[in-house]
Amino acid sequence: MKGYKVRMNNDTPPARIVNKIALNERIIFALDFADPAQALGWVERLDGRIRFFKVGLQLFTAGWWPVVDAITARGNKVMLDLKFFDIPETVLRAVEQLHNHGVSLATIHGNDPIIRAAVAAKGDIGLLAVTVLTSFDEDDMRKMGLNGPVADLVGMRARKAVELGCDGVVCSALEVAGLRADLGAGFLAVTPGIRPADRSGGDDQRRIATPGAAIANGADHLVIGRPISTAADPLALIDIIQQEIAVALERRSKP
Ligand code: C5P
Repeated sequence: MKGYKVRMNNDTPPARIVNKIALNERIIFALDFADPAQALGWVERLDGRIRFFKVGLQLFTAGWWPVVDAITARGNKVMLDLKFFDIPETVLRAVEQLHNHGVSLATIHGNDPIIRAAVAAKGDIGLLAVTVLTSFDEDDMRKMGLNGPVADLVGMRARKAVELGCDGVVCSALEVAGLRADLGAGFLAVTPGIRPADRSGGDDQRRIATPGAAIANGADHLVIGRPISTAADPLALIDIIQQEIAVALERRSKP
């Protein structure tokens, strides 16, 4: 997998591995825009400060591959968040289509055969399994016929994903410490639902945490969209978040 050193064991990771992701790649900025030109305007505006961008369903269906290619052409990384979920053969063929566009991370979800099919086709793309959407709380899960604590389902799905060869998982920052305790350091933990301390609540995200808490819990990358895109001064907010991340990483690296 490009740019990552994934280890599969249960040891506490040495600080150099925990900290080897560059600070400007810790935030993955969610380009949730309908207009590719607007999205690329953000990429230019954040040049160098943020080098990792998430292209999700909205932007991909608006701009298709040219928008991804334009982002990577500037030397950035892309997390393609299309959350593939279909029969194994279809997922395998869809994952095959992700090659040759410089995609660093891609998302899928599903049961063992679906995950195995995606892993078989992933090549050097970092494959992330979505565990339980950060917009879900226990009540939402119950309404879908899923009983028990969210953390248990996240833990079970994450363990399966890592065992079957995924490079990491998408989960909320609230579950990461438990996953690290159970599965160790050898997988990527990517956490959406990040809200700065003064911006919590009021939208569709339910299992939320601050950037500092997410890193302290063991997250590798933080997916952040609206807190940055709706900030009065996005660049200033990014500086504050990155400082918070750096402080939390420093603390995390100490025994
Ligand atoms: O705007 P906000 O910071 O809530 O953006 C979160 C992004 O992360 C959205 O693009 C959403 O699709 C994505 N995401 C998520 N929960 C997951 C996986 C992805 O919120 N489990």
